[in-house]
Amino acid sequence: MGRFSGKTVLITGAASGIGRASAQAFAAEGASLYLCDINGEGLQAVADTLPGQVKTRVLDVTSSADCRAAVDEAVTEFGQLDVLCNIAGIAKTHHFHDTTDEQWDQLLAVNLSSVMYLSRAAIPHLLKQKGNIVNMASIAGLMGQAYTSGYCASKAAVVMLSKSIALEYAKQGLRCNAICPGGVQTELVQKFSAPEDVNFELMARYMPLTEMAEAEDVANAVLFLASQDARHINGVALPLDSGVSAG
Ligand SMILES: NC(=O)c1ccc[n+]([C@@H]2O[C@H](COP(=O)([O-])OP(=O)(O)OC[C@H]3O[C@@H](n4cnc5c(N)ncnc54)[C@H](O)[C@@H]3O)[C@@H](O)[C@H]2O)c1
Repeated sequence: MGRFSGKTVLITGAASGIGRASAQAFAAEGASLYLCDINGEGLQAVADTLPGQVKTRVLDVTSSADCRAAVDEAVTEFGQLDVLCNIAGIAKTHHFHDTTDEQWDQLLAVNLSSVMYLSRAAIPHLLKQKGNIVNMASIAGLMGQAYTSGYCASKAAVVMLSKSIALEYAKQGLRCNAICPGGVQTELVQKFSAPEDVNFELMARYMPLTEMAEAEDVANAVLFLASQDARHINGVALPLDSGVSAG
């Protein structure tokens, strides 16, 4: 038994990092899980370790049609959808003037359009359950950072998309919140690379004031916002950055 017994949760980005930690935490609290990621092998490895009802789908979240099909399959499989967690994301670092159309389009497609596609498909089902959406934005959605213009733009848009959805459906009992982590120890950060000639001082604004967070720290916030404990919390962009964005 747990806060999510009898609830169905769809999570993107579930093969790694924050998505994986969230899947593990939801499973431990009794949720039935519909886990999606573009990395099918990683997804299966996560699913194999989880208790309870778990269904996986290899999904490229940049496909509108496939996002809708994923939501439809989750509802067919479990009969309902209570929580949507949009966690899949990518980060790229470029000099702004060197950014190609392909790099820009890919960042916005994975980090922003996916949130629109999945939320649009899920909301009719979430409304039936008075459910909610948790979107993974970033401190980059609250503060600018050099050399990550596309990432910052995508995450700021996720913050505003979340607030807009929150207001539009509040009276119907649906909530939508965003989380804005600072540095979190995941593959995304381990793979982080910047052009050799960047000025790292300009990137230092995001540096954690204490140690970096773990994926489980973010998962705890995901579960809180998704739970009834947060039933009066709607439209927030919750910093999870040990205070970096407070200044
Ligand atoms: N790690 C950090 O410091 C940090 C900070 C702030 C925000 N975030 C955000 O948290 C989220 C999760 O990141 P993470 O740190 O766990 O990274 P991660 O790289 O460990 O996990 C990201 C997951 O998204 C999946 N993914 C990427 N492109 C996809 C696509 N097109 N379709 C489906 N799945 C796709 C990857 O396969 C991976 O499993 C991202 O949205 C990221 O922007 C991370």
